Amino acid sequence: MRQVMVAGNWKMNGSSESVKELMAGIAAGMSSVTKAEVVVCPPAVYISRVSGAADGSAVKVGSQNICDEDSGAFTGELSGDMLKDVGCEYAIIGHSERRALYGETDELVAKRFAAARRNGIKPLFCIGETLEERESGVTNDVCARQIDAVIALEGVEALADGVIAYEPVWAIGTGKVATPEQAQEVHAFIRGKIASLNAEVAEGLRILYGGSMNPGNAKELIGQPDIDGGLIGGASLKAEDFLAICQAAE
Ligand code: PGA
Repeated sequence: MRQVMVAGNWKMNGSSESVKELMAGIAAGMSSVTKAEVVVCPPAVYISRVSGAADGSAVKVGSQNICDEDSGAFTGELSGDMLKDVGCEYAIIGHSERRALYGETDELVAKRFAAARRNGIKPLFCIGETLEERESGVTNDVCARQIDAVIALEGVEALADGVIAYEPVWAIGTGKVATPEQAQEVHAFIRGKIASLNAEVAEGLRILYGGSMNPGNAKELIGQPDIDGGLIGGASLKAEDFLAICQAAE
């Protein structure tokens, strides 16, 4: 049985004050979350204090990215060691905003995936197609290509160390959620593709859905056979909404 995971991607939002409040709200509601593994990914400058606030609760902390290198002259980057040092158990890798706005290629994303593994951080590996790609019928090809870059570098077994988040780009931050059927179809494709290489890895791998998931649609999405949780953007910024999504797994 795969444990449901709900991860909040806070993106570039918040202040010292607001993250403190948000984290306190989430921690306070965790007694009603018994099934889901819960992770929050704050902006890097707040990771330390969020880790401190999460201490003693079941909430785990992740970063929104990780450098592909381990130390040295890489201005603006954060190494796996540093992220571990401030309490990160997970790192989001290959988010579509990183790919589209900051030019991260499949190859770079794969290297970041490798860096996370070598530093004992679990990659929360994001994949997904744009609207144009969906409309031209290449959704599965795009997801396969993004996964293949990691498999080429690290081997299929490496996927067992992380989590995949399928996030159709057209559903991120748009309020336009994939239907449960649409999402399930791609999740099943992803699992099937991995199963053709290693059935055990595919069976154990958690595949989250991301893209306008909210308290109203979470239960039905997470109820699909191949959807093992969610990566939540907008709705993770309100403790009440985020907790409601976590409770969808109860
Ligand atoms: P959203 O973002 O929930 O606001 O659509 C999801 C994500 O980007 O991870």
